[in-house]
Amino acid sequence: TQDPVVTMKQEVGKAAARRVQSDSVVGLGTGSTTAFAIQYIGERLKTGELKNIVGVPTSFQAEVLARKYGIPLTTLDVIEKLDIAIDGADEVDPQKNLIKGGGAAHTREKIVDSLADLFIVVVDQSKLVTKLGSTFALPVEVLPMAITPVMHQLEKLGGKPELRMGVKKDGPVVTDQGNLVIDVKFDSIDDPASLEKIINNIPGVLENGLFVGLADIILVGSIQDGKPVIE
Ligand code: A5P
Repeated sequence: TQDPVVTMKQEVGKAAARRVQSDSVVGLGTGSTTAFAIQYIGERLKTGELKNIVGVPTSFQAEVLARKYGIPLTTLDVIEKLDIAIDGADEVDPQKNLIKGGGAAHTREKIVDSLADLFIVVVDQSKLVTKLGSTFALPVEVLPMAITPVMHQLEKLGGKPELRMGVKKDGPVVTDQGNLVIDVKFDSIDDPASLEKIINNIPGVLENGLFVGLADIILVGSIQDGKPVIE
């Protein structure tokens, strides 16, 4: 039998994939929940239920999955906008603001997701918080040569910064773009919109994981009476 959390992710991923329509450009997010959406979009293409779809991957992981499941890919150089983007998140607040970047992909994710007419977020209920930053440290992608001055600036903002280290690798995590990630824990993030701008204004920072005012729909998977429910 499958772990219920995996079932939740699978069902919420499928629910998002069902919202994709033929003749559209689709942003393909990163993470274990979106992976199920990518798989299901591929299956719908295979059966002919969906036609004429092109994807824009938000990471190397999304690109590999799209190829595996037969979704043709394009780049932002040849399309003006996306019809829909599906992506996961690490925290979601009641205003639909997000923290992303648990998979170190938030820079490309923000570029792609922000260009979509409809941005659907797929999460399980453990990601819902009343205030951003309450459980998750904020990921910040930084140019390697700027890592120390950026850490000092983040401390001045009241955060506790840590260079993200690899799990099955010695040394730091390197992003798909060849940069490093600082995870910065704040006691609480009271004004996500201004913190997003302040951090992105530190020289050497490429992008932080605060997504403010971007998400249109949050699909939340939960288990009720032993069955997966999507709301
Ligand atoms: C990638 O950097 C993140 O923004 C992911 O979207 C996030 O970590 C969600 O992943 P899961 O669906 O695996 O929780």
